[in-house]
Amino acid sequence: MADLESARRWLAGAERIAVLTGAGISAESGVPIFRGPGGLWRQYRPEDLATPGAFARDPRLVWEWYDWRRSVVAQAEPNAGHLALAELERRTKDFTLITQNVDGLHERAGSRRVLKLHGDLWTLRCTGCGAERVDGTVPLPELPPRCALRLRSGQACGGLLRPGVVWFGESLPADALEQAMAAAARAQVFLVVGTSAVVQPAASLPLMARQAGARVVEINAEPTPLTELVDASFLGKSGELLPRLVEAGVRA
Ligand code: OAD
Repeated sequence: MADLESARRWLAGAERIAVLTGAGISAESGVPIFRGPGGLWRQYRPEDLATPGAFARDPRLVWEWYDWRRSVVAQAEPNAGHLALAELERRTKDFTLITQNVDGLHERAGSRRVLKLHGDLWTLRCTGCGAERVDGTVPLPELPPRCALRLRSGQACGGLLRPGVVWFGESLPADALEQAMAAAARAQVFLVVGTSAVVQPAASLPLMARQAGARVVEINAEPTPLTELVDASFLGKSGELLPRLVEAGVRA
């Protein structure tokens, strides 16, 4: 297993880098993770809150949970890990950030090219007319929210709005997934940060990258199914490790 200095050199010398992030990168910003100590899925059941069936049964309950998550994220700030990735993007020719997170903290930290595999907490999508809009209002004034779009008849659509996220049992946005796979295939270094690496297809991206010749570097608070399979693994907090790994101005 390579040490931090080697991994730093790989990153500094690479022209093509891809990164996959999960909930762990936002943990130090105060956004709860899903699995592991304090994880949301220890407290709640995904089948009650994050499936199309749950929404059909009780849209208000589902929206209360998402409205709470929106309020948590609205009060959060990007941390040193998010900022280090934005810095890495600025100095890398071909850089792709793939995230499973829906919190928008990467963009707020200055990341530009972000592929959001699981959608976005701030997007609302109408289950009636299909229209999408970005709405940062916290809390939402009405739960569940309704679509205010004017139809040709002049009447408001009134359809039920849903969170613009990907739920269990739903497909990932095909475009984002395709671009993520292409980025994994051409990356010289693939960095995996703060993900338990158990949710597919995201968890396969680092392995695809490795098969295509990339060096894979993992940063996570605890070992994952990937840990034994990567070129370098660093256990710890991404807000502390990423700035060291991405140290500004370092060249190979
Ligand atoms: P998880 O909650 O499954 O995993 C987060 C990982 O981050 C865990 O392995 C933690 O040990 C690690 N971690 C915690 N704090 C950290 C820190 N400060 N620095 C580094 N690592 C830290 O989150 P994801 O892997 O993102 O999907 O979960 C994947 C998907 O499962 C989510 O996008 C969500 C969830 O169900 C949907 O809702 C569809």
